[in-house]
Amino acid sequence: MIERLKLANVGPAQEMELEFAPRLNVFTGDNGLGKSFILDIAWWSLTRTWPAEIGHKLTTGLKAFPYSDRKNEAAIEALLLDDSQKKFGFASKYNHHIQGWDSKWEPQSWKIKNPGDPKRPGLAIYVMSDGSFAVQDYHRNPIYWPWQIPKKAEEQGPFAAMKDLATMTSATAFVFNAHEVWNGLDAGDISGERWILCNGLIRDWAGWQKERGEPFEYLKSVLKELSPPNHPPIVPGKLTRVSLGDVRDMPTVKMPYGQEIALVHASSGLKHILALAYLLVWTWHEHKIAAELRGEETASSITFLIDEIESHMHPSWQRKIVGSMLKVAKILNEDIDVQIIATTHAPLVMASIEPLFDDRQDAWFDLDLEDSEVVLSRREFEKQGDANNWLTSEAFDLSSPVSEEAQIVIKEARMLLDKKDTATADEVWAVHKKLAKTLPYDSDFLSTWRYFWKKQGYMQ
Ligand SMILES: Nc1ncnc2c1ncn2[C@@H]1O[C@H](COP(=O)(O)OP(=O)(O)O)[C@@H](O)[C@H]1O
Ligand SMILES: [Mg+2]
Repeated sequence: MIERLKLANVGPAQEMELEFAPRLNVFTGDNGLGKSFILDIAWWSLTRTWPAEIGHKLTTGLKAFPYSDRKNEAAIEALLLDDSQKKFGFASKYNHHIQGWDSKWEPQSWKIKNPGDPKRPGLAIYVMSDGSFAVQDYHRNPIYWPWQIPKKAEEQGPFAAMKDLATMTSATAFVFNAHEVWNGLDAGDISGERWILCNGLIRDWAGWQKERGEPFEYLKSVLKELSPPNHPPIVPGKLTRVSLGDVRDMPTVKMPYGQEIALVHASSGLKHILALAYLLVWTWHEHKIAAELRGEETASSITFLIDEIESHMHPSWQRKIVGSMLKVAKILNEDIDVQIIATTHAPLVMASIEPLFDDRQDAWFDLDLEDSEVVLSRREFEKQGDANNWLTSEAFDLSSPVSEEAQIVIKEARMLLDKKDTATADEVWAVHKKLAKTLPYDSDFLSTWRYFWKKQGYMQ
């Protein structure tokens, strides 16, 4: 889990500092103000990897590049919690010579009592906006600190089985582009052998379904929790085939209209959730196996970083997703602590948080442009009552939830109302025609407008 971040001369603002809440952290802000950037930095702090440096086809999760020229030192400091809730952290400066981030063990901004040995945060899953995912599991990805990177294969200690540096793809984290989540993650040929890091959703789901074991039970429960409301839950159907050329058994899901559709034919919203559900189950299942093989405990915490949490979802689903994400990891392990760091552009997501938001364990951060500078603030979470009110709140800063045209005409109409009887009948009728075109007949504003001009004798 991550507790604090402090950035200097990197990203959209010269300085940024934030203290994460232990459970839910939501980020709002206009496009381009740094929401995804903050997730990238949080992910890097948790895992010491930039997803795009591992998965070369990613268009998100790029290494952070310093804000300005070499005169201003760029620095990232992070304070984290290891899996036994002990604090640890680091300070990192951008080294222009190597074009990368180096590290000092202790952050300068915060004192850590008895830092002890370098620790590792719990499990982390990053859901990026381009449909790619990253997973880090300290039992399976041995390298966190840069100095742990072995110079030679023999120095890999308990991970000697990873006999070649080419396996570095899995030494630090698993990174999947949208295609690899479905079809598998392959480390390529290493000394003549093909290394498969992950079978991918299609093969694993089909395999789990045939085994009828624990992972399939987990998968069904996770899918149920993540299902859209007002629909039957997402339920796996029979395995099928979708092409003569593809010998894989293809999983299906039952649709509310009675068909069982192949997963590859699912809608974007459903595919996004299927991928997330699968990766969560895969991460936990493989983590448990790895813990057993190593004779160690399983993780007690998981951090989800989710960019644009409402991606591809209908409003009714948007209204449920945050609550579901808070619950879903508990299906795998009841005692696991869950931290969520999510961004959103959806007023309904904010409205949906109202009943569950708890100041002691949740936080809302908002990015704004003030005097041409990006400012990050932790805002007090006040209930707005509905999505319209969220649209006009500090979260989204709209002056009105109506169409831009309606807003302009209403402004014009208000000016005429202020002029009262000095307005001419022609002026009133010209605005009236525009109002009637943009607003519904029974809108409150149109009723007030009609009533006023009738009283003035301008209308019948
Ligand atoms: N890898 C990076 N290195 C340095 N700055 C970045 C990086 N990625 C994004 N930024 C900065 O963050 C800004 C906002 O990008 P982003 O986080 O994608 O916005 P959004 O709030 O829409 O998610 C960019 O305009 C750029 O200033
Ligand atoms: Mg973004």
